[in-house]
Amino acid sequence: MDPFMGGGTTLIVGQTKGRRAIGVDVSPLSCFVSTHRNWRASSASLDALSALVSDAADMAKTGEFSAPPVAVPSDDDGVVSSEDSGVPKPWRPMRDALRARLANVSASEVDARVFEAAWFCLSVAVQRTQKSSNKRRPKGKGKSGGSGNIVSDNADKFVKITDEYVKRVLEFQAVCNQHDPAAPEASIHNMDIRQFKLKDEDKVDAVLTSCVYPGVYDYQSFARKVRAGSGAVVTRSDAEAQPLSSTFLTTTVPGDRHWPKEWLEGEIGSRKALRSDPYSFKETWQRDTDAWVAVVADCLKSGGRAAIMVGDGANINTRTSIIEAGAKSGLIELAGCTMKHVGGTLSDGSIYNQARTEHLILLQKP
Ligand SMILES: C[S@@+](CC[C@H](N)C(=O)[O-])C[C@H]1O[C@@H](n2cnc3c(N)ncnc32)[C@H](O)[C@@H]1O
Repeated sequence: MDPFMGGGTTLIVGQTKGRRAIGVDVSPLSCFVSTHRNWRASSASLDALSALVSDAADMAKTGEFSAPPVAVPSDDDGVVSSEDSGVPKPWRPMRDALRARLANVSASEVDARVFEAAWFCLSVAVQRTQKSSNKRRPKGKGKSGGSGNIVSDNADKFVKITDEYVKRVLEFQAVCNQHDPAAPEASIHNMDIRQFKLKDEDKVDAVLTSCVYPGVYDYQSFARKVRAGSGAVVTRSDAEAQPLSSTFLTTTVPGDRHWPKEWLEGEIGSRKALRSDPYSFKETWQRDTDAWVAVVADCLKSGGRAAIMVGDGANINTRTSIIEAGAKSGLIELAGCTMKHVGGTLSDGSIYNQARTEHLILLQKP
């Protein structure tokens, strides 16, 4: 179990070792990414995904499609949709072609996971090109080595990223199937870990996580930014036709700052919280740490262990803070190590600040 699942790596590794895997994260982005990285897809589903994406890419290239209308801003139901939702302009034809293609699939033809996976691949493609264009900022045309037609290049990138994704899902499947091919998928929970509970029969042998760091990141705010720029537009009628499970996809990007509460609440130790109330941060941090460590203790079987990686911030010694929280919940400290903050001056006089102090902590439930 990973109580701060992030991208879901713990779940992937667990399953490749033949373990049952459970992940919890408050961020809809984390759950979206983890769900698709942990997909135990059938080859029929993966074929359907490849076919859909390749059709949509052809449609984007020829421009021969009409995209279904998106939700219109309305005060009645509180839905304010910004149609282009932060999607870079050169990606909009691809996004619209995908919507047009998906509007023509029936729920019996492909399952909702295929539908969601197509949006996942598009989001990855959009994010990747944005990252690389931030780095390179090519001047003039032709430098990217593409055809010179950006819509068509993006369509090709989308197909390429989908192919790569399908290949990786198959590899993941092959490793998992060396154990029990019928093992259930990882169970993923989009919620605040402090509200999480496992039934007695589901308690786990091990918790493995890199948890939140005090005052260092803003995960929920990052998730909203990624959602807005992801390119996914799932209209109500799409969502009705497909039983979509992902909050990430079913949320309409608001034209204003009014995101639903799932995108705003529950994050522990954010940087924003530190900035807005630095004086009470430390006390709140310890209370939150006590609460999540208590949940971890409750989820473990007797004899089960929790391996936690954590980094310091906001002048808090997170090792002490977690060990204290563990003691309150009856967890015993078995082992640990600390990597001290490294920094110094290089020969050219520049100062480097390589890493924050980080700890590994191993706790056990008696
Ligand atoms: C350091 S990242 C996790 C990385 C992940 N464990 C890994 O090893 O790949 C911390 C995660 O904690 C999540 N998080 C923050 N507050 C949370 C809460 N109250 N409940 C559950 N998850 C939370 C964030 O959304 C973020 O994804």
